[in-house]
Amino acid sequence: MDKNAAMTPTYKQSLVFTLFLAVASSAQIPPAPSIISSGPYLQYATKTGITILWETTEKATSLVEYGEETPLASRVAGAEDCEMHEVRIEGLKPQTNYFYRVISKTAAGGESVSDVYSFQTAVEERTAYAFGVVSDTQTNPPIWGKISKLVFAERPNFVIHSGDIVGEGPKKEQWTDEFLRPAHGLMSRVPIFAILGNHDQDHANYYRYICNPAPEYRYTFTYGNAQFFLLDTKREVGPGSEQHEWLDRELARSKAMWKFAVHHHPPYSSDENDYGDTWKGKSPRGDLKLRPLVALYEKHGLDICFFGHIHDYERTWPIRENRTDPTRGVIYVQAGGAGGGLENYAPTRSWFTAKVHRDHHFVIVSVCGKTLQLQAIDQNGVLFDQVLLNK
Ligand SMILES: [Fe+2]
Ligand SMILES: [Fe+2]
Repeated sequence: MDKNAAMTPTYKQSLVFTLFLAVASSAQIPPAPSIISSGPYLQYATKTGITILWETTEKATSLVEYGEETPLASRVAGAEDCEMHEVRIEGLKPQTNYFYRVISKTAAGGESVSDVYSFQTAVEERTAYAFGVVSDTQTNPPIWGKISKLVFAERPNFVIHSGDIVGEGPKKEQWTDEFLRPAHGLMSRVPIFAILGNHDQDHANYYRYICNPAPEYRYTFTYGNAQFFLLDTKREVGPGSEQHEWLDRELARSKAMWKFAVHHHPPYSSDENDYGDTWKGKSPRGDLKLRPLVALYEKHGLDICFFGHIHDYERTWPIRENRTDPTRGVIYVQAGGAGGGLENYAPTRSWFTAKVHRDHHFVIVSVCGKTLQLQAIDQNGVLFDQVLLNK
């Protein structure tokens, strides 16, 4: 082999060198990381509208592209220069599937585009539907992640959340990293209707990450043939209070076939020690401050009251005038099992108990006209309670 031949690169060597250069140059310009740090996720779905929220790591524009098919043909813009993006889409068709994605652009020109997700507008009054019930997702992202996947596996139309969304309301990372992120698969496709718990501390973060009609700490919405009434039970609910009068008025004018209340604290509960030490003394078996709401529920024929606060499951028999009445009572469902450390029951059974179960869990309610099926499912996907109601 002559000297020159050794110096001259072969064709194969040139190709390897060219490939090396290509890889090296592409490695020098990695794709810009997305500035979308939370979401997108869905809030307050109606028959004709929905709100889409997401957060970015720096100030940017807000744009949602959506349509009944891809490529997405419609778009709606929100605020130009913000980190928390909240875009309301109106003028949608009822009971219709849509796809969407969100886009944020910084002043420097960097653009972040989310994946494409889906949502469905609220169904018509005569259509069957299902909703999940979760509560007390606080301080346990692994369990909330697991529960939210099981909830999504049920393909509910929407989910209700009765508070203690996080352990400490002022801590922003609990909202983003412990509540939103573990449930992204669910919340990017299914709207959650939430209400305040004591741990959320009525903090500005609730109003930042949860979007309901003003004043947001209490509201009502209709879905299919049901109407939901959500209250903040950390605020006053006794006779004469603003919430009590609001609820009395709203329940009185409701024409819905099914009426459901959602709030954080339990009017009835068999918890071992929150309402007196049941191992050593007497207990009213529930929060007496909530009993004025019970009077309204009975007066207006509420069907089911959902709550949490106590971190385990309990379903009561129908209750009327402080005794069981299977024919025309209100059922109370404590579904505080989506995250927070489990609690326990009094050593003796309460007069109202139909079922107790101590495990992380969620509830799924399916409604078809005058028939309602309620199921409670544990963190392993096992059904542990079921009831069928007919009007
Ligand atoms: Fe809680
Ligand atoms: Fe609580």
